[in-house]
Amino acid sequence: MSHYDPKLAPPRDRLILALDVADADSARALVTELGDAVRFYKIGLELAMSGEYFQLLDWLLQHDKRVFADLKFYDVPATVAAAVRQVRNRGATFLTVHGDRAIMEAAASEKGESMRVLAVTVLTSLDKADLEEMGIHDDVRDVVLRRAQLAVESGCDGVIASGHEAKDLRSTLGPGPLVVTPGIRPADNTSQDDQKRIVTPGAAILDGADFLVVGRPIRGASAPRAAAEAIQAEIEAALAE
Ligand code: C5P
Repeated sequence: MSHYDPKLAPPRDRLILALDVADADSARALVTELGDAVRFYKIGLELAMSGEYFQLLDWLLQHDKRVFADLKFYDVPATVAAAVRQVRNRGATFLTVHGDRAIMEAAASEKGESMRVLAVTVLTSLDKADLEEMGIHDDVRDVVLRRAQLAVESGCDGVIASGHEAKDLRSTLGPGPLVVTPGIRPADNTSQDDQKRIVTPGAAILDGADFLVVGRPIRGASAPRAAAEAIQAEIEAALAE
C-alpha cells in the first residue's frame, strides 16, 4: 500500500464511489453489490457519525478497496495536525482538509508516508453571492485557483474541484498535483438532484481530472453495477484518447 502512486493508478481506480449512506451495513451491502466494478470508496461525515467508521474502513481494506477519508478537517493547525496523526496509519489513500494555509501546512506535515492530503478550495455548494456575504469579492473561479496554488505551496498533494475548473486548475498547477472531481453526471443521467455545475465522466478526465467522485448516478441507478461499469468504460476511453 505504501508505494501506491495515485498519479499512476490504473484506469479502474479512477472512479471513486461516494458511500453517502447512514450505516456500515448499508455501505457493505452496496460495496458487495458493486463487486469489481468499483475499487475506490469515499467515506465521509455521515458514516463517521454512525460510530462504525474505522470498522468500515478496515473492512474496505480487507476487501482490496481503496479509501478516500472525506473528513474535511477544519480547525486550528495544532488540532488538525493531531487529527491527521490519528488517521494517517489507518490505510486511507486520500484525506480532505479545508484550504487555509496554516491548516494545510499542519495536515501535510503529519500525513505520513502513504496518505495523500487533498484540499477543498471552495465548497461546490457556495456561489458568488455566498462568497460576497463572507466578504470575498472575487469570482469563485479565481478563489478556487488561488486556493489551489496555496494548497500545493502548503504541501498538499492536490485539490477537490468541480469539473468546470479542472482544465484551468491543470494549466495553473501543472501536471503533478492531483485533481479529484465530484459533480459528475453521465450524459444519459436523468436523476433530478442538487448538483448544478456538472460534467460527464469523459469530459472531466479529458480536462485533466485524475479521479472522479460519483454518488447518486450509481447508488440511485436501477442497476448500480451496470451504471458503474458504464462510467468505467467512459473513463477508460477518455484516458486512451
Ligand atoms: O452528487 P453525487 O451524489 O454524485 O455526489 C458525490 C459527492 O460529491 C458527495 O459525496 C459530495 O462530497 C460531493 N458533492 C458536491 N456538491 C454537491 C453535492 C455533493 O461536491 N452539491
